Amino acid sequence: MYILGIETSCDETAASVIKDDFEILSNVVLSQDEIHAPFGGVVPELASRQHLSSIGYVVEECLRRAQLKIEEIDAYGVTQGPGLIGSLLVGLSFAKGLAYYYKKLLIPVDHLEAHIESAFLENRSITFPLVALVVSGGHTSTFFLKKKLDYQLIGKTRDDAAGEVLDKIAKFLELGYPGGPIIDSLAEKGNPRSFSFGLPHMTDKSLDFSFSGLKTAALKKIKDIKISKSHPQFFDFLASFEMAIIRALLSNLDQTVKIFKPSSLILCGGVARNKKLRTHFEEFARKRSLQSFVPSLKFCTDNAAMVAALALEKIKSGKRTSFPLDLNAYPRHIGGRFP
Ligand code: KG4
Ligand code: ZN
Repeated sequence: MYILGIETSCDETAASVIKDDFEILSNVVLSQDEIHAPFGGVVPELASRQHLSSIGYVVEECLRRAQLKIEEIDAYGVTQGPGLIGSLLVGLSFAKGLAYYYKKLLIPVDHLEAHIESAFLENRSITFPLVALVVSGGHTSTFFLKKKLDYQLIGKTRDDAAGEVLDKIAKFLELGYPGGPIIDSLAEKGNPRSFSFGLPHMTDKSLDFSFSGLKTAALKKIKDIKISKSHPQFFDFLASFEMAIIRALLSNLDQTVKIFKPSSLILCGGVARNKKLRTHFEEFARKRSLQSFVPSLKFCTDNAAMVAALALEKIKSGKRTSFPLDLNAYPRHIGGRFP
């Protein structure tokens, strides 16, 4: 059995073919970074238009690398949401068309659940119960999984996502887009203890995140101290700001772990590529004698291998939806409501 995954939730057009033993036969990701870079952020209409012109080529290239013909695909997995609605509709409609024409299974997949699945791509023996921290450009959420495919959302950001804040501060400082990887490498040259940022905390004891306070504090410091690329403390500022985000993530995770008592921890999503976050996350888990799993870099940012793998998990667990012609895309995370 061959499963073709399609991912178009934001600004990557991606397709991947996997076998029914989860072996990845091909994994193609076409980034739109160059298109959005001049604007310092994703322009939704440009993203959907670009998906529309790229999707056919990306799927063809993915099949060519897997040395398969389209007729040999047995099931299609596709991201249904959350994400940019126009972008999601391109991938979903394309997958629907293929599944309808070739009379194959079509399995809709939640983007955040697919990010969690990315940790299983390289390790199928992660033990449960587990807590997954999904840190991306659009989301910062924690999930508790008692067992496979059993997702309980336990915390989410009430305002900006961690990646979004990194991107916005980088944009403000005119560092380029996407800001996350740029801050990651520039922060290496600075001292993370130079500037202090208060830790965000929820007054209602919820396990939600909030990053808008950190963003505002950073913007205020930039204006007050006149931080720019030529400022002597430019690198120190970025290192301290990056560390504030890491501390906010891990302090939330600390509370979550105390309550849910998992045996494993997963860190995933685009921001999981961050070097210091990866190191501190692993140290966090080691200190608490928990197993930790962080996907390799190419599986942290948006890709379709994680989509195909989650679709395959659903097929194996009996969650089949053949010809779901009425499937719709959803922009916000609703989780678990769809098969
Ligand atoms: O998961 P993803 O590819 O797309 C969404 O679902 O949003 O995540 C993209 C985010 C962007 O905010 C980007 O700046 C951030 O991941 N990112 C990083 C790094 N690489 C990508 N953030 C920090 N350090 C990195 N090395
Ligand atoms: Zn993502």
